[in-house]
Amino acid sequence: MSTHVPDMSVNVAGVELRSPVIAASGTFGYGIEFEDIVSLDRIGAFVTKGLSKEPMAGNPTPRIIETAAGMMNAIGLQNMGVRAFVEEKLPKLRQIKGAVTIANVFGYTVEDCLEVIEVLNDAEGVVMYELNASCPNTSHGGMVFGTDPELLKELVSRTKKAATRPLMVKLSPNVTSIGQMARAAEEAGADAVSLVNTFVSMAIDVETRKPKIANVTAGLSGPAIKPIAVRMVNEAFKAVKIPVVGMGGIVRADDGIEFMMAGATAVEVGTASYADPRAVENIASGMKKWCASHQVEKVRSLTGSIIL
Ligand SMILES: Cc1cc2nc3c(=O)[nH]c(=O)nc-3n(C[C@H](O)[C@H](O)[C@H](O)COP(=O)(O)O)c2cc1C
Repeated sequence: MSTHVPDMSVNVAGVELRSPVIAASGTFGYGIEFEDIVSLDRIGAFVTKGLSKEPMAGNPTPRIIETAAGMMNAIGLQNMGVRAFVEEKLPKLRQIKGAVTIANVFGYTVEDCLEVIEVLNDAEGVVMYELNASCPNTSHGGMVFGTDPELLKELVSRTKKAATRPLMVKLSPNVTSIGQMARAAEEAGADAVSLVNTFVSMAIDVETRKPKIANVTAGLSGPAIKPIAVRMVNEAFKAVKIPVVGMGGIVRADDGIEFMMAGATAVEVGTASYADPRAVENIASGMKKWCASHQVEKVRSLTGSIIL
């Protein structure tokens, strides 16, 4: 086995990360909760829970169930609100050695998103924004921003103008052409895209004939979605020039490598942290070992290296 130490750094939209492995939004709290479990300086970055302009209580329970090879959730974007995050969590995060924070932003109108971005712009300690486009736009009859190219362009161009940090747009996978949506985000000024968010799904208890999730529909994540996510990351990679950050069912180092070969510049890990809170760190060190044992000197050389 080779003894060289691989260079694991990657650059996402001008932000240099020491590792391509990022903890995904909604599965890693506000970072602080994981401080004693995960060495935040051993992973590339973490993404906060989605932040909205006001605190949100989320959906009624039950709102999480396990499925074959995955989970369904309808948490409903519960969060403490952007101002409480800036006042209570960010000062602590700034003190954690090596913590790199990406803020996940959402809203039900473009104006809501702009307000969140403006509050974050004034705060120190965030390197990038991840804009969640899988949200219904209440000023357009509840149509999800990320399923209509024109709505997506309006959201992205206006938030990009307001943002003082790189803007990564997190795409919804519940579309016919992910390449078209990635291109719409790029044309509107996105600095990077990340995908996939969860797939809309449903489960019924056959004894009661009732939905297993109180919200009726929920987002499916975990290993069950991985092959679809890999295909979508590859399509997005072929459609745009900006970096693509890939996720969906990554639980092992090999999965992360696979996403990079499909075209990802970096990867995010979500559901795996539920089974093992140290999953993100373990996947990061596993990918480093994979590179060493495969004589890959720079992990970034793997991006798009699929042989067809
Ligand atoms: C419980 C839960 C909460 C989530 N909350 C958010 C969120 O607030 N914002 C967001 O953009 N994505 C959210 N996601 C989506 C994940 O970040 C990720 O895109 C998705 O789960 C696919 O990756 P995975 O299969 O590794 O979990 C959430 C996922 C789960 C399972």
